[in-house]
Amino acid sequence: MCGIVGYVGHRPAVEVAVEGLGRLEYRGYDSSGVALVGPGGELAVEKRAGKLANLRSALTSRPLPEATVGIGHTRWATHGAPTDRNAHPHTDCRSRIAVIHNGIIENFAELRAELEDDGHKLLSETDTEVVAHLLERHAADGLAEAMRRVCRRLEGAFTLLAVSADEPDVVVGARRNSPLVVGRGEGENFLGSDVSAFIAYTREAVELGQDQVVELRGPGITVTDFHGAPAETRDYHVGWDASAAEKGGYDHFMLKEIAEQPRAVADTLLGRIGSDGLLTLDEMRLSDQELRDVSKIIVVACGTSYHAGLIAKYAIEHWARVPCEVELASEFRYRDPILNRDTLVIVISQSGETMDTLMAVRHAREQRSRVLAICNVNGSTIPRESDAVLYTHAGPEIAVASTKAFLTQLVACYLVALYIAQVRGVKFGDEITQILDRLAGMPAKVEEVLATMEPVRALARSLAGERCVLFLGRHVGFPVALEGALKLKELAYMHAEGFAAGELKHGPIALIDRGLPVVVVVPSPSGQRVIHDKIVSNIQEIRARGARTIVIAEEGDTAVEPYADTLIRVPAVETLLQPLVAAVPLQVFACELATAKGHDVDQPRNLAKSVTVE
Ligand code: F6R
Repeated sequence: MCGIVGYVGHRPAVEVAVEGLGRLEYRGYDSSGVALVGPGGELAVEKRAGKLANLRSALTSRPLPEATVGIGHTRWATHGAPTDRNAHPHTDCRSRIAVIHNGIIENFAELRAELEDDGHKLLSETDTEVVAHLLERHAADGLAEAMRRVCRRLEGAFTLLAVSADEPDVVVGARRNSPLVVGRGEGENFLGSDVSAFIAYTREAVELGQDQVVELRGPGITVTDFHGAPAETRDYHVGWDASAAEKGGYDHFMLKEIAEQPRAVADTLLGRIGSDGLLTLDEMRLSDQELRDVSKIIVVACGTSYHAGLIAKYAIEHWARVPCEVELASEFRYRDPILNRDTLVIVISQSGETMDTLMAVRHAREQRSRVLAICNVNGSTIPRESDAVLYTHAGPEIAVASTKAFLTQLVACYLVALYIAQVRGVKFGDEITQILDRLAGMPAKVEEVLATMEPVRALARSLAGERCVLFLGRHVGFPVALEGALKLKELAYMHAEGFAAGELKHGPIALIDRGLPVVVVVPSPSGQRVIHDKIVSNIQEIRARGARTIVIAEEGDTAVEPYADTLIRVPAVETLLQPLVAAVPLQVFACELATAKGHDVDQPRNLAKSVTVE
């Protein structure tokens, strides 16, 4: 939430900041702003409510200093409405220091009262503004030291960047519980909420740790803890370039990311299957003995990643025969879960920054459980704080609604389940090889689905006037139904609910009304036949009550034909792998329906890509 960019170098800082904000806008789009410091110490601040386009046009109509130092911010509002006044940057009383912030400063009310008692006039309703005024108090110590002193007083989560008219070649940043990465260039350096902020200029990045302050001064980078002691950092190379974070001819990032799924799935499998046909997950950092000692697995995640976790449970219990629970990260630590050294907690997070999930990681580790992160963003906080990590290789996911990251999370979950089965000897070589072969065939199957989506788009357009759509599934089709409903809610702003088809008769069937569209995900008849046959009965039950049935079923499943008002075919694959093909039409459906309603599918209202508040 909130995108942050900072720059010290030789280029026009306004261009670097606005370019970076363009790439970070998916993190929040309630308002945006920049602060630029000219070589003579002129501080210029411009900020506007609404999308970045508003800031862009404001910047063209005012004179700006020839600045090569600056910061920029795109906001997802927490404290205070999304107005010009609450937009970042915020300045001190003298308008000599400007600050931008991502996160929530929990003790801001107390700090604000203290500052107001001291005669400071605060103009906004934000928690951020107190930081500018606190920095002002310590301005004589220099910006970096002032930042360290202020950070020691702050509670909560924050990434902060500040510039000062008194130090025209400096940007100072700080982080606690919120993301901040350094981009290392030639005679220029960058700061960003994530690497996309500076990927157009450099692919060399420096990972910062918890509670650190970074000073970009001229060509130098200095990192300390909040007390001024030099801090350890890690350099890394970003494996993708700027073109991966561009639309590449598609109207929306979401369309591009849906189309990239075969590659994303293939890349996530790449290098993980050894020449002996067995799995090698050496990079995971968990020993085979540790995996053999596991007596229980808890998968913890939010939103779409949680749905991947629900599917993981089926694979882990079926293949590895280890008891597995799945829990929403926002509930996990507050219910005092029973955790111990033999519990493996698997957290799933595309961004690696989701605060609910990060707090779950910390809670699990405090209880001595081992934590394995499945994550898409190298160097992000969650994998850094976990004992082990398995990276998905979806590439940058820019659209707020997750698509390709979801499919790669499923692949990673399958790999973990199989690996545990392999090291515990629950499955033997040729069984593992057989499943891995099927997994290796999945990119082609996803490609097949993508090639047949035109009728799904037409269906979506025809339903744009509906108020509600229900989704049903059984077995792994149930989490797929939940995911289909989530996609539709977040993109089309429609009432959409996912149910386990077996639960219908326990209440939700009362919702079925004449003409109500109900999407049903039908499991393969070649898997557990009984599940398939039961859901076919469920389709008949809802159709008898007037529902308009939209059935997703595999090629050759003729049993569903008489009861499907619309039939969406997906390739026949093993039941456990079916979510990889069944989720795709639901993504396309939601995207098209939202587009037909005139919504911005990449930046749906009220949402942000990386949710760094609890
Ligand atoms: C929905 C979506 C969200 C995220 C959730 C967790 O399309 O993208 O529900 O899945 O906010 O985010 P990560 O995976 O970054 O922890």
